[in-house]
Amino acid sequence: MILVTGGCGFIGSAFVLRWLAQSQEPLLNLDLLTYAGHPGNLAAVQGDARYHFCRGDIGDAALVAKLLAEHKPRAIVNFAAESHVDRSIADPLAFARTNVMGTLGLLQEALAYWRALDAGAAAAFRFVHVSTDEVFGSLAPDAAAFSETHPYQPNSPYSASKAASDHFVRAWHHTYGFPALITNCSNNYGPRQFPEKLIPLMVHNALRGLPLPVYGDGQQVRDWLFVDDHCSALEAVLERGRVGETYNIGGRSERTNLQVVHTICSVLDELRPQAHGAPHAQLVKHVTDRPGHDRRYAIDDRKIEAELHWRPAVAFEQGIRATIEWYLANADWVESVTSGSYRQWVERQYKGLAKAA
Ligand code: NAD
Ligand code: TYD
Repeated sequence: MILVTGGCGFIGSAFVLRWLAQSQEPLLNLDLLTYAGHPGNLAAVQGDARYHFCRGDIGDAALVAKLLAEHKPRAIVNFAAESHVDRSIADPLAFARTNVMGTLGLLQEALAYWRALDAGAAAAFRFVHVSTDEVFGSLAPDAAAFSETHPYQPNSPYSASKAASDHFVRAWHHTYGFPALITNCSNNYGPRQFPEKLIPLMVHNALRGLPLPVYGDGQQVRDWLFVDDHCSALEAVLERGRVGETYNIGGRSERTNLQVVHTICSVLDELRPQAHGAPHAQLVKHVTDRPGHDRRYAIDDRKIEAELHWRPAVAFEQGIRATIEWYLANADWVESVTSGSYRQWVERQYKGLAKAA
């Protein structure tokens, strides 16, 4: 079986659902169920004998040791993290706790487990650490995209914490020979993304006639990766990646934030026009910029294409339409995750920004 951490979050749940749809191999999901973890994301596999769930912290050494001893996974895929840049600016210590100390605790227990395996199982074992392109910092508009050898220059508390975790994973391989691999991917989008991130937040607000808060001039560039494409890349890295290597994963879809928001507005104008007929784009509101806001991320994915024959299959225009259609069809899901704590976050995060804009 394999152990997945953070499987109740956005990307982890997409990975778990794909895994159980494609493979007979059982899967154990270790997730703390923070504000970002929603067991409902995995409602489709509840009761499936191949699916096992444990609520807990990746940094809880005793729990991780017990789970490894009991379930004997052949691989670990580590998604668990605090993942939102704006929250990292508001509460950086939570990011150090999970992303740095949590990953370190998981690595420590995984190393002890791996060392006790017999030679065949040890040779086959893999630890895949899911990281971000944000560890590389920010690119000038015409600069070459991030390759795997781009220097680490994290700018936000989030990216600094992910960079630190990547360094520990790298050190585990270099020092102990631990069979780890790192992936650095671009911005994901797709079903079940929590509406604190750009795309689901804009869809959520547009459907309610609320302002669409674009930070600064909206000319920041991100590369957008459809979540199922990301999961297929992770499967390739898990099965065929070279131990000790890192792989960049992108969607070949660089867009400015304003382009993304306008695309969402025009798809919604078609699928769910406002009652009074005004275009959704009229809801766009420029607000105070994010402190230290990275200007551009872009991925050079030549390594994963050449070595693992992976490339993204979903074009942005196709993926964004499918994503919006999912949110329109799953209003209950949105309702269930936008509870009191979500409303408090939105209130805190956006009130000051709007006033200052
Ligand atoms: P998410 O915030 O949607 O989900 C994170 C999950 O981890 C939640 O289910 C949460 O309950 C769980 N979790 C948090 N702390 C935990 C802990 N201490 N122990 C166990 N579980 C814990 O995140 P996501 O968007 O699905 O991202 C998954 C991974 O991918 C993260 O490592 C993130 O840094 C990375 N990543 C995400 C993106 C993106 O665009 N979303 C881009 C690049 C990299
Ligand atoms: P986000 O989804 O938070 O991902 P990340 O910061 O990890 O790239 O943000 C994507 C881009 O959208 C980023 O440049 C910040 C911007 N943004 C806004 O303009 N308004 C918003 O309300 C949010 C959440 C993000």
